[in-house]
Amino acid sequence: MCVNSDSQEVHPELEIKFKYLLYLTAAPVVNRYNRRVSVSAEPFNPDEEEEGTEKRVVHPKTDEQRCRLQEACKDILLFKNLDQEQLFQVLDAMFEKKVKPQEHVIDQGDDGDNFYVIEQGRYDIVVAKDNVSCCVGHYDDRGSFGELALMYNTPRAATIVATTEGALWGLDRGTFRRIILKNNAKKRKTYESFIESVPLLKFLEASERMKIVDVIGEKVYQDGECILSQGNRADCFYIVESGEVRILMKSKTMTGKANQEVEITRYGRGQYFGELALVTNKPRAASAYAVGEVKCLVMDVQTFERLLWTCMDIMKRDITHYEEQLVAIFGSSMDLKDSGN
Ligand code: CMP
Ligand code: CMP
Repeated sequence: MCVNSDSQEVHPELEIKFKYLLYLTAAPVVNRYNRRVSVSAEPFNPDEEEEGTEKRVVHPKTDEQRCRLQEACKDILLFKNLDQEQLFQVLDAMFEKKVKPQEHVIDQGDDGDNFYVIEQGRYDIVVAKDNVSCCVGHYDDRGSFGELALMYNTPRAATIVATTEGALWGLDRGTFRRIILKNNAKKRKTYESFIESVPLLKFLEASERMKIVDVIGEKVYQDGECILSQGNRADCFYIVESGEVRILMKSKTMTGKANQEVEITRYGRGQYFGELALVTNKPRAASAYAVGEVKCLVMDVQTFERLLWTCMDIMKRDITHYEEQLVAIFGSSMDLKDSGN
């Protein structure tokens, strides 16, 4: 829900439009404290890094803390392309931070000090523009935030507010830039031409495609492995980098019981899946399985909403196509857009 500076509620339809506008007009905001001069999205040059960032940071941890940290970090996409030594250095440098309800972990406009991984808690993402603050999304017990200001030397692009008690793991700016950004320079070389060839992304500006490359992670699946399951909560979007993915669906019988899974389609290099649940805010409509070894580029829901708004029309057109496909396979129509609530 959007609220203006006098705390009046804004109609939900306006909220959606506002979210869309925010994406389109996501200009850097003015830095309240003026501590760092650069506000443009500067490209990263690993050979010209800030002085003093070569120092290795270590926050000693108990075995119990390390276990919790590893669990919290296991699905963090920005860590997926690190080698083992880089990952050890990142984990060594991370420190624990407990937060209270209503605490601002990050304030829009501030300089970026840390990147955060969520161990626990719920956090609202609030973006202010023209004196109107709008909650554009939230994190629920998982995920990470605070990478943008560190990657592009821009002021914080949103305010992150804890709405419950929470536990976070922080990573300092120096270590983030030394390890994650150096790795991103490699990632750009690896994925730049592939991302350019993905039909869904061809209408984006080259700089927007680069931003996608900077935040996606690669995941590898073995033959037969389930990538996502029908009915599950959705938090990621997938682009097939190599291999083949089968999409299977269980329809419901007249008595409401689930039938056997039926294959409805297959996807190969450059195609995407897992967008439907993110667009409709519903559980996964089908399951996806790897055929042979499969590599996917994976994006979290917050990044999907922030960077792929302009592709929404294409994805919405797919929904009509999916519904027609289901009529052809199951003989009855299913309303995939219906929220089901
Ligand atoms: P940063 O700008 O460093 O600090 C605020 C963080 O909020 C930002 O990095 C992202 O990690 C996160 N975020 C999530 N969704 C959005 C959004 N729609 N706009 C801006 N920041 C967002
Ligand atoms: P999602 O519902 O998030 O997860 C399952 C994915 O299967 C879905 O997104 C689509 O990307 C993909 N899919 C392919 N064909 C269909 C279809 N006919 N109906 C629903 N989902 C489909």
